[in-house]
Amino acid sequence: MSPAAADPRPSGLRPELRLVLAVSLDGRLAPAEGGAAQLGGAADRLVLEEALAWADAVLVGAETLRRHGSTCLIHSPALLEARRSQGRSDQPIAIAVSRSGRLPAALPFFRQPLERWLLQAAPLPPAAPAEGFDRHMPLDSWPEALAALAALGQRRIAVLGGAKLAAALAAEDLLDELQLTVCPRLLGGPHGWLPADARVAPAARAGWRLVEHRALPGDELLLRWRRPGAQGVTS
Ligand SMILES: NC(=O)c1ccc[n+]([C@@H]2O[C@H](COP(=O)([O-])OP(=O)(O)OC[C@H]3O[C@@H](n4cnc5c(N)ncnc54)[C@H](OP(=O)(O)O)[C@@H]3O)[C@@H](O)[C@H]2O)c1
Repeated sequence: MSPAAADPRPSGLRPELRLVLAVSLDGRLAPAEGGAAQLGGAADRLVLEEALAWADAVLVGAETLRRHGSTCLIHSPALLEARRSQGRSDQPIAIAVSRSGRLPAALPFFRQPLERWLLQAAPLPPAAPAEGFDRHMPLDSWPEALAALAALGQRRIAVLGGAKLAAALAAEDLLDELQLTVCPRLLGGPHGWLPADARVAPAARAGWRLVEHRALPGDELLLRWRRPGAQGVTS
C-alpha cells in the first residue's frame, strides 16, 4: 500500500496548517491571570517572522485580536525582501476567525498594512456584518472553509492561536505541524495552549515526528513536530 493510501487523514485540496505558538515550560500560552501574553523574546520573534514569511495567510482567533489589538507583522528587511523577490505580498493575509463578529473597527488591527479576511461561523442571533475586512467567508465546516481558502491560493497557513482556535483544529486533526517556542518561564494557571476541555481527534493524539529542535538565544527552544502524511514540505 502506498504511503498516500495508508494516510487516514482527510484528502483533497486543503492548505498546510502550521500552529505557531510561544509556550511556557509548563505549556501555558498566557499568564495565570490571562490577558495579552508576550512570552517569547527576540529569538522567538525571529522564528515567528520566519513562519509568517513562509505563510500565504495566517489564522488568528478573535479573542487574541481583541486582547492584543493587532496581529504580528514581518519586520525583518531580509524576510520582506525575500517575499518581494518571490512576487509575494509583504505580509501574509490575516484571516480572523469569529462567530460573534465582535471585532471593533477601533482595533489597531484595522490600520495594519495587510489584507484582512474574516472567516465567520454563523452567529446566533445573527450579528451585523463586521466591517473593515477585504473578504468575508463562511465557516460552516473547517474542511469546507480550508478547501475554499486553498482554492483562493492560500496553500500555507500559519495558525497564530489562541488556544480555542488551536483546539478547534486539533479536534478535526487539521494541524499538520506544531511550531512551539518553549520559553524559560513557569506560569501555572489554566491557560494551556490547548484548553483543559479540548477534545483532540484520536488520530492526532500520537505519531508526531520531531523535524526540528533548535536552541535559541535567551534560553528558548524551538521545536517543530509534523504529522505523518502532513500536507506540503518541511522547510
Ligand atoms: N503565546 C502565544 O503564542 C499566544 C498566541 C496567541 C494567543 N495567545 C493568548 O491566548 C489568549 C487568547 O486565546 P483564547 O483561546 O482565549 O482565544 P482565541 O482562540 O484567540 O479566540 C477565541 C475566539 O475565536 C473565535 N473562534 C475560535 N475558534 C472558532 C471556531 N471554530 N468557530 C468560530 N469562531 C471561533 C471565537 O470568536 P468570537 O468570540 O468572536 O465568536 C472565539 O471566542 C490570550 O491570552 C492571548 O494572549 C498566546
